[in-house]
Amino acid sequence: MKATDTLDPPNGQGTALETPLIHLEGIRKTYGPIEVLKGVNLSVAKGEVVAMIGPSGSGKSTLLRCVNQLEFHTGGTVSVGDATIAPGGHPAVRDLQKLRRKVGMVFQSFNLFPHLSVLRNVSLAQERVLGRSREEADQRSMQLLSRVGLADKGSQYPSRCSGGQQQRIAIARALALDPEAMLFDEPTSALDPELGVEVLTVMRELAENGMTMIVVTHEMHFAEDVSNRVVVMADGMIIEEGPSKQVMTAPRAERTQRFLRAVRDR
Ligand SMILES: Nc1ncnc2c1ncn2[C@@H]1O[C@H](COP(=O)(O)OP(=O)(O)OP(=O)(O)O)[C@@H](O)[C@H]1O
Ligand SMILES: [Mg+2]
Repeated sequence: MKATDTLDPPNGQGTALETPLIHLEGIRKTYGPIEVLKGVNLSVAKGEVVAMIGPSGSGKSTLLRCVNQLEFHTGGTVSVGDATIAPGGHPAVRDLQKLRRKVGMVFQSFNLFPHLSVLRNVSLAQERVLGRSREEADQRSMQLLSRVGLADKGSQYPSRCSGGQQQRIAIARALALDPEAMLFDEPTSALDPELGVEVLTVMRELAENGMTMIVVTHEMHFAEDVSNRVVVMADGMIIEEGPSKQVMTAPRAERTQRFLRAVRDR
């Protein structure tokens, strides 16, 4: 069952009337004289899975990084639940922590600590950020490692794990902080297709269990079959969005059609 099956009210109005968990309003981001986000509006309901696609350089990573404030936006507001961040940088540390606690992020490169065991990689932030005891943290880590199919890897070092396994460890590490939403930035693009499948299976399972997700991806099957909605970015703006099937099979914008043709012909 897709997460939205339980979210769609019977009157067919979709999730638009619900209070969104993630709400981006007029997000702008400039680097020096260059504006890379030009006023992006995006709302994501609790339990919704949004796939974000679009050409290289269109601002997808920058937008994700603004959601959890790895980058400070220069215009507009970012809200996640009751945490709201105004533009211009230097938000109050309390607000920043509140927001970051709500969103986990998974990157293309897994960024695991090479000198720590898999278990410690997943436990460390739980102890530092959530104040869990080592025992509590390790227990939660083992739960999550088995959820991502890696119960037997706890004592290994990351270098002994495949790329697909390392990415699943990174997902477990993000989940260990009990986020309300997860952001994925091309989580499979550094992996061989077969290893990518393992990661996509974990992501599909997360989606089916109601995790709120924004996934920047070139995996067209994931976008079409797992996400509820597809958002297309080009040149710092959302140029098209809609139900996944519709955008993927019958896109309206010429730019989207061109992009999808290029990806499929690759
Ligand atoms: N730190 C930075 N300083 C200056 N320009 C940047 C910086 N980070 C990103 N940019 C520029 O912002 C634009 C958007 O980049 P971004 O990485 O968000 O694109 P993307 O859609 O994620 O692309 P890709 O599909 O290749 O990952 C690009 O033109 C990029 O060169
Ligand atoms: Mg990117």
